[in-house]
Amino acid sequence: MIKLAPSILSADFARLGEDVRAIEAGGADFVHIDVMDGSFVPSISFGVPVVKCLRPVTPLFFDVHLMVNEPIRHVEAFAKAGADLIDFQIEGATDVAATLEKIRSLGVKTGLAVKPGTPVEAVSSYIDMLDMILVMTVEPGKGGQAYIPECTEKIRIARQMIDASGRDILLEVDGGVKIDNVDIPLAAGADVIVAGSAVFGGDVVGKTRAFAEHFRAK
Ligand code: DX5
Ligand code: ZN
Repeated sequence: MIKLAPSILSADFARLGEDVRAIEAGGADFVHIDVMDGSFVPSISFGVPVVKCLRPVTPLFFDVHLMVNEPIRHVEAFAKAGADLIDFQIEGATDVAATLEKIRSLGVKTGLAVKPGTPVEAVSSYIDMLDMILVMTVEPGKGGQAYIPECTEKIRIARQMIDASGRDILLEVDGGVKIDNVDIPLAAGADVIVAGSAVFGGDVVGKTRAFAEHFRAK
């Protein structure tokens, strides 16, 4: 089953609860929550209080993507706020294993994200500790960028790594995915698709439903 994880980075923050209810109504599986610290990436998005306020709004699975330096400092607060899974950029963590261990100790699922320039093989030594691998298909930092075609090969490699591990690990693809190019990451083996600018703005229910129906037809 392919899952849709709309990124609320492109939502209308003045009516965030309504936007999240709209993706739920349209058939989204996860809420993808992009946290940026103004240091690992230039922008600042939002933090723990937003996750906490959204938690009572929806039963959807909260997929918190930390684009921050030293994520280990923040995982406990996001876990308490209601994260179901925390994925963090491998490039921002000094001690990746300790960060994963800490997430697991909080009863939250783990994910490791790689920027376009980072080989996906970088996650291989942690595969036994992972519930998700996140292949970034744009440079982290903002929504609305174009999918980088060179990253498709990394999705294929990640799929092979997961299959070879025999473990139940989700393969998420994030950045520049629209309804008219989503078959590229899917054919490469993705099973969770993040879509921000393709879902939010205008008819959020309808745009979410279009992805959900496309996935169901697969
Ligand atoms: C980029 C974020 C993505 C982004 C996706 O730093 O991690 O989740 O918001 O947005 P679109 O789908 O517009 O590329
Ligand atoms: Zn993201």
